Amino acid sequence: MNPAPTDPAPAQPQTENLAPGQCPYLVVRDPETVRDVLHRPTDFSPGNALVAVTPLSGPALRVLQRVRFALPPVLASNDTDTHAGIRKVVARFFTPATVAAMEPRIRELAREAAANTAQQLDRAGHVDLVQAVAAFTPAVVMLELLGLPVRDLADLKRWGLDSMELFWGWPDEARQLELAHSAADFYVWLRRLVSESVSAHGRNLFKSLADHGLSTPEICSLGYFLLIAGQETTTQLISTTLFRLLEGSAPSNWTAAASETGARTTVKHVLTTESSVPTWRRIAPQGTLLGDALIPAGTEILIELSGNRITRPAEPDGWPPQTHTATVRPSTAYGLVFGSGIHRCLGAKLAELETAVIVQETAAALPGIQLQDPESEWIRFLSFQAPRTVTVVKGRSARS
Ligand code: HEM
Repeated sequence: MNPAPTDPAPAQPQTENLAPGQCPYLVVRDPETVRDVLHRPTDFSPGNALVAVTPLSGPALRVLQRVRFALPPVLASNDTDTHAGIRKVVARFFTPATVAAMEPRIRELAREAAANTAQQLDRAGHVDLVQAVAAFTPAVVMLELLGLPVRDLADLKRWGLDSMELFWGWPDEARQLELAHSAADFYVWLRRLVSESVSAHGRNLFKSLADHGLSTPEICSLGYFLLIAGQETTTQLISTTLFRLLEGSAPSNWTAAASETGARTTVKHVLTTESSVPTWRRIAPQGTLLGDALIPAGTEILIELSGNRITRPAEPDGWPPQTHTATVRPSTAYGLVFGSGIHRCLGAKLAELETAVIVQETAAALPGIQLQDPESEWIRFLSFQAPRTVTVVKGRSARS
């Protein structure tokens, strides 16, 4: 998420001198090689993790510059020795004990959403599970854990998805402009929240980061990443899990998913075959070796963490492979879905727990439902994927 030419961001994607339809990244799929890349942060820097996949046009950049939008490297894209200390401050908000203690609250929110969804289904005859059960609980839980006010949730959801498209999608100039306005609104909202939070009573993430010595632009940068990564990725994992269960392509069926074991097993399966974050990026600041291969300085690497259409397109449809359908090429199961090494995801436990609880409570409250549209449109960005909607109707046996 580094849009401005003045940012201290490293290289833009290698899009110059490429034939149309050619992937600009060195794609690494072999799990052992992926692990090697992730465990050599000096040779393979995360400095490009948040760089816009599609270079932004002048008008879109101007919209962002007008609100002084800047994302200096602090956490996910920080390749300096300040990373460890900042990570420690953030990690205190997501310790295993804190996450485990949050389970009853997650279940309460999930049950409430599932009960409302059942009523909506009775009333309207159909309901979109993405909006009804997947969207809001992860956002509420994240804000509560960070000690931040739970407000403006509908805006937060829209801004998160828009920013994912702006920085990880392939928007044309007109769409970039719309998305840049959304990102600018998000940033202005965030800066207000940061200034309010650093002087608020009680513990919250932004105050802890200010006490650690971070400037306001650095806190905003971290907040911008975390308020998206900390909830929209989980919404997307829940959406894919619900979709595959209802489609009948998951190892468990809908009835089995209503049990704790059934739900947990299905979530693990979807994570390894089709996670919401199926790829991530690194860049080689200087020439180095990867196995026997010489990697020239400036090479941008796309690592595969889970099944997807980007590194394994289902049809040979060139670059970018962005058809919005449900087909996916699963990769073999391996434990890299949350990354590995010093940048490994800080929300892994929380994301798995939330997804399992929400899937379980939804399956328990809505027995016998069916997918209305198995051809649902999919979000297919470079590093994010999920069905946009999972609309369901009552199944024949469940209709009264
Ligand atoms: C299904 C949901 C999620 C998936 C698939 C996911 C995946 C990832 C991946 C692949 C990375 C990059 C790891 C690397 O570079 O080695 C990452 C980083 C990160 N994630 Fe997640 N994530 C999810 C949810 C969350 C949640 C719920 C939170 C917090 C509440 C979170 C916080 C973070 C943070 C802070 C980082 C950067 C860590 C660092 O650079 O030190 N993520 N995540």
